Amino acid sequence: MKQFRAGVIGIGFIGAAHIEALRRLGNVTVEALCSRTNPDKKAASLCVPSAYPDYREMLDREKLDCVHICTPNNSHFEIAKYALERGVHVVLEKPMTCSISEAQELLAVAKKTGLVHGINFNCRFYPMVYEMREMVRTGALGNIYHIGGSYLQDWLYLDTDYSWRLEKEWSGKSRVFADIGTHWMDLVQFVTGSRVSEVLADFAIFHKTRKKPLKAIDTFSGMALSPEDYAEKTIDTEDYAHVAFHMENGAHGSCTVSQVFAGRKNKLTVSVGGSKRALTWDSENSNALWIGSRESANGELVKDPSILSAPTGKITSYPGGHVEGFPDTFKQTFKKIYEAIEAGTQPAKPDFADFNDGLAEMILIENIVKSANERRWVSI
Ligand SMILES: NC(=O)c1ccc[n+]([C@@H]2O[C@H](COP(=O)([O-])OP(=O)(O)OC[C@H]3O[C@@H](n4cnc5c(N)ncnc54)[C@H](O)[C@@H]3O)[C@@H](O)[C@H]2O)c1
Repeated sequence: MKQFRAGVIGIGFIGAAHIEALRRLGNVTVEALCSRTNPDKKAASLCVPSAYPDYREMLDREKLDCVHICTPNNSHFEIAKYALERGVHVVLEKPMTCSISEAQELLAVAKKTGLVHGINFNCRFYPMVYEMREMVRTGALGNIYHIGGSYLQDWLYLDTDYSWRLEKEWSGKSRVFADIGTHWMDLVQFVTGSRVSEVLADFAIFHKTRKKPLKAIDTFSGMALSPEDYAEKTIDTEDYAHVAFHMENGAHGSCTVSQVFAGRKNKLTVSVGGSKRALTWDSENSNALWIGSRESANGELVKDPSILSAPTGKITSYPGGHVEGFPDTFKQTFKKIYEAIEAGTQPAKPDFADFNDGLAEMILIENIVKSANERRWVSI
């Protein structure tokens, strides 16, 4: 098996998860990391040999095969472009960029270089999500009538909760939809094999102002601050989004996305109703899939590679009863991406999300924001 050298840029919540997942592949060594804050300390605690405060220096000095970009959204474009222009394959966190034009340019650069490009829409690689796609593909659901669900979190519930994600300069025009709604939409489009064609969106900002900490904090770091550590800040991105949509395959759907829903930590649910069966999946009970039938008893399919379809079996690492979850989706996503790197070319239609999917999501975000602002249906 060929060995690959990887580097990770941005070592907050998700950068560390990338490092852990890469090490589980067996054929990738994490040679270097780049962090604006405490690079040496982070490298020491994660046992990474080299540390850099500047990504350019890291990409110029280290002979990396692939770089993982895990910084806030507003730096995705410049870092990915810099890496591609130096011949380095790119795994980019979602959302791809902060604008459609940036995403178009990145896709064009990636195509020109012929390098492998992936967007970490990791939810595709929960075994039961993958199995949903197999069931749709093999016709077990029939025609898709309608789709529904939600993605709910509570980590921005209080007006003292703060993150770079609350500022447009860092996260882009949309917050909750771009941050987690894109995961939900990518999952639905992956499972159904169809794209969203029209949207009607409703946004709400419940905390019109928030208390911004005067010290830097990483996402989910749970740091407790005292009143003198805050400044009042006006909020202009949504806490909540509700999106009704139509798909190219004729299906209708809707989703509710919120980061201010008390008690729900990271709950993504999706229901797909077809002419033969219906399915419901819940990320907080991710090893089970509910199967609804009209003419026979409803069922629950549990993750067990010996009874799942052959394609799902291949992205499942452990036997039945051995729970697989969020970290495993990173491993399976990266496994597919490094297989493409080993093959030396970007697959025409990979299972992992690529820059085409990233661009499609950027177009979706832009039109959902437009629909919410103009209070009307918008065609994609
Ligand atoms: N796929 C997923 O499930 C998932 C989950 C969480 C976050 N994300 C995405 O990952 C990205 C990072 O999110 P996070 O939650 O880890 O944020 P975070 O705030 O926890 O970490 C970001 C880190 O990047 C560093 N950084 C910022 N600019 C940098 C630069 N120019 N060079 C080097 N380091 C820099 C910051 O110092 C910080 O340590 C976002 O785009 C987010 O949307 C994806």
